[in-house]
Amino acid sequence: MCGITGYIGSRPALEVALDTLKRLEYRGYDSAGVAFWGGEKLQVMKRAGKIQQLSDLLNGVEAHGLAVSHTRWATHGIPNDPNAHPHTDEQGCVAVVHNGIIENYLELKQELLARGHQFRSETDTEVLAHLIEEQLAQGYAPEEAVRRALQPVRGSYAIAVLFTDYPDRVVVARNDSPLVIGLGDGENFVASDIPALLPYTRRVILLENGDVGVVTRDAVRLTRLDGASVERPPVEITWSAEAAEKGGHEHFMIKEILEQPEAVRDTLRGRLKPNGGIQFPELKLEVEDWQKFRRILIVACGTAYHAGLVGKHALERWLRRPVEVYYSSEFRYGDPILQPNTLAVFISQSGETADTLAALRLCREAGYTTLGIVNVVGSSIARECDHVIYTQAGPEISVASTKAYSTQVAVLYLLGLYLSAINGTLPMQTYSEGVKGLMQMPSLIARSLETEPQVRQIAEQLHQTPLAFYLGRGVDAYVAMEGALKIKEIAYVPTQEPPAGEMKHGPLALVEPGVIAVFIATQERTREKLLGNLKEIKARQGTVFLVTTEDDHLLPQEADYTVFVPKPPLEELSPLVSIPVLQLFAYHVARLRGCEIDQPRNLAKSVTVE
Ligand code: F6R
Repeated sequence: MCGITGYIGSRPALEVALDTLKRLEYRGYDSAGVAFWGGEKLQVMKRAGKIQQLSDLLNGVEAHGLAVSHTRWATHGIPNDPNAHPHTDEQGCVAVVHNGIIENYLELKQELLARGHQFRSETDTEVLAHLIEEQLAQGYAPEEAVRRALQPVRGSYAIAVLFTDYPDRVVVARNDSPLVIGLGDGENFVASDIPALLPYTRRVILLENGDVGVVTRDAVRLTRLDGASVERPPVEITWSAEAAEKGGHEHFMIKEILEQPEAVRDTLRGRLKPNGGIQFPELKLEVEDWQKFRRILIVACGTAYHAGLVGKHALERWLRRPVEVYYSSEFRYGDPILQPNTLAVFISQSGETADTLAALRLCREAGYTTLGIVNVVGSSIARECDHVIYTQAGPEISVASTKAYSTQVAVLYLLGLYLSAINGTLPMQTYSEGVKGLMQMPSLIARSLETEPQVRQIAEQLHQTPLAFYLGRGVDAYVAMEGALKIKEIAYVPTQEPPAGEMKHGPLALVEPGVIAVFIATQERTREKLLGNLKEIKARQGTVFLVTTEDDHLLPQEADYTVFVPKPPLEELSPLVSIPVLQLFAYHVARLRGCEIDQPRNLAKSVTVE
């Protein structure tokens, strides 16, 4: 989620650091920092704000030969100077930059505190600096110290480490977060993302999970975490710098759609325990506090509102408590009936949406306990809520929200299962199936994304449609709303998305040849009724595109096009596997219609006016 770079060679190291960081600013941009060799020891300079702020700070400072640098997208701790990377141990023996999430950092921090370490930041990363320093103090060489320090660490990391006593090397390691080493002549580079390195080299080594590397000016030596040597042949990068920023894709939107398995995995990380338990280590709510909520209010806009609707479906079924979902912009006009023991949940990717913020302030005045489900750490909504769960989607650059939606839904599922467990409202077996489904979710979403070639072909047939219906029943009706929003906002296709049962009460009048209807049919108990709706469309010569689960033998017989998605262990979880198909469809329709996909007309990524 953050960007990291490193350099060893004879160029001015700070110039390289700033230049490579700027090429990664699209990944995260709330603070930046650099560690470099100051002649006698390591020096660290870091600043909250954009890279320009760091550049101003470094004005007049010179360093040759060695630096690691970082641009941060906060995951633990607000964006401020102490939380910016690099992080060091007390004596400044090591400086670490890190991209990823250390799941068990609280546990490790407690142990380090008990052993007398002092912490200066709220980050998960700082534990790594102290752990490495402890190993160095026991006499281990830098690479061995890093390998040993990483043994107890769970989670994702790409790290680059400098050592005051070894200014001839950068030690790197990777697990579940990308890291590449760029090869030069008498110089070498490190980066979390290839675009950072393209002006310097196109020959890179792609590290694998569990690799640890020692990078000097003239050599790269790789081992596995257990110390065994390993060879990774370099590859030649042929992408343009712009394509590389998008991971080789044409648009950020498709990159972000394809990142969903990873984003959901990061969101579940540390919250879904291997034994099936659920925890929110960041929240200071005790079980008794949670148990007192009799009613839940969800407030959000646009895609986040649609995530809230999916959450309502799951929470009401699992918890048997009323959940109301409001558009933030309508909240104050709805004249909500204020009731005690209500948990008010605010969902927002940016954390800055003015309508949601205004509703949050009303709820605070009314004395509700407020919980934010937010992507951007330290944003206004995150700061003003009593409690916040961060979605860990990473920066979402495309205006159309995709991975933020999936991670919001994943948090609501976690919350639903957690609350139902502490309130005893779900049979044990259903709870276990829910947990199993969430654990499998990254791979189920990945399977759903494998339908892309088929979805693209369907888009080729249907992209000229003048009007698209998006239809479902139950939770599928909520997914239909999100699918319709996607195609409307990026492909400018007019849509209608009533619950399928409403068609004959009016909207059916709009169906004529050329009109398409996208049906979402993941819920077994709605299929017979949906069959009737599907026939209504066909009888008026509309075209039916069906998205259903692999067990459906009824509806595909009637549809013009069918895409099958995997069936999760609990039907409530199916939105996470069906939405990728609708996102891909909207994306390909927009591409075929020649639309400006990442920045659709009339829209902005963050809506900060009411
Ligand atoms: C649609 C989209 C918007 C946002 C909405 C809320 O793709 O991105 O509908 O979901 O503007 O924004 P946040 O989540 O930042 O509060």
